[in-house]
Amino acid sequence: MKLFDVYPINDITIERAKDSYVWDENGVQYLDMYGGHAVISIGHSNPHWVKRIEEQLNKIAFYSNSVQIPIQKELAKKLSKLSGKEDYQLFLVNSGAEANENALKLASFHTGRKKIIAFKKAFHGRTSLAVAATDNPSIIAPVNETENVVFLPFNDEAALKEYFRTNVTEVAAVIIEAIQGVGGITLASPGFLQLLRKLCDENGVMLIADEVQCGYGRSGKFFAFDHAGINADIYTMAKGMGNGFPIGGILIAPHIKPKYGMLGTTFGGNHLACAAGLAVLEVMEEEDLVEKSKQRGQYLINKLRKIDGIENVRGLGLMIGFDVPLDLKDLRKNLLLHHNVFTGEAKPNVIRLLPALTITRKQMDEFLDALQEAINELRSEQNIPVDEVTA
Ligand SMILES: Cc1ncc(COP(=O)(O)O)c(C=O)c1O
Repeated sequence: MKLFDVYPINDITIERAKDSYVWDENGVQYLDMYGGHAVISIGHSNPHWVKRIEEQLNKIAFYSNSVQIPIQKELAKKLSKLSGKEDYQLFLVNSGAEANENALKLASFHTGRKKIIAFKKAFHGRTSLAVAATDNPSIIAPVNETENVVFLPFNDEAALKEYFRTNVTEVAAVIIEAIQGVGGITLASPGFLQLLRKLCDENGVMLIADEVQCGYGRSGKFFAFDHAGINADIYTMAKGMGNGFPIGGILIAPHIKPKYGMLGTTFGGNHLACAAGLAVLEVMEEEDLVEKSKQRGQYLINKLRKIDGIENVRGLGLMIGFDVPLDLKDLRKNLLLHHNVFTGEAKPNVIRLLPALTITRKQMDEFLDALQEAINELRSEQNIPVDEVTA
């Protein structure tokens, strides 16, 4: 049997991982500035995480949501403490798309309305409503097409006000990434998010923060929304939540009331996933990783801004992007194949950095050296003297 060939993959086999390094089957070491796609929050194979999962595995891995599962409550308690959203309610799922799907559905149940506002270049996942709210027609199948989703320009206050002025009685929810990830590391301005909050409040619309990629400490605050000093009605979470163990969740404001059968899942909130999720939060608390993410990110951004060749360095915490000019279009490939550094990308020309929140100064310096060398190599291949490019 063949695998269904949907991923354009690098011909590298990763066999082992520790903190911010991974090794291939020949023992070659790679620096992971990509965090396995923003998933690795507390470092690959973190010992506390491994131990917690092992201990749980030896007790019970799974039982259905038809019985008491105390470790779900433990996870909720720790999450309240670290996120500061103490009066919110937690519903556990398995992935980012599933979190968004449930958030959108919940907003619709709660308001009795059908329309969703999403934004240009948004990515919310590949399940039916999440993909319909994703601004990429090539991944929307005919069956997912719907008139219930409208895309507005990101950070455009006038367009937002205009839409709310004319159509708002039909709108159930607005869904937004405070930092667009797949869209190319674009930050929503605090003013735009505050306006959204105000318009949603005035019109009974639910505000959903898609924190699947930018949340869970990555931006230097627990939620990227926190930078704007406002709360969402629903936060969606996944990637960093399990450090590689599949787990997602939604945090639901207290004014949204549950009803039996309203949402449900077989695997969401299983014992093993909760053990992984708890281990992540314990390490985040113990090592003060949200604050560290802010400091480390600032260090990296400051250094990147001094590197000649890359453009428009931006980001918050350890969610960082920069543009790669045409003469360095092979930069990401060069970093991987010649310098053994994994980075992320966003089309057409953005390099995304999403390392573990535990990344050290030494590892960041190693990356910065590799980046500078890769730029020099690409330029010398084109016979462009470095100072000519600088001029
Ligand atoms: C902002 C955002 N939302 C949702 C998703 C979907 O998450 P998953 O792939 O876990 O379904 C992603 C994945 O990249 C994402 O970046």
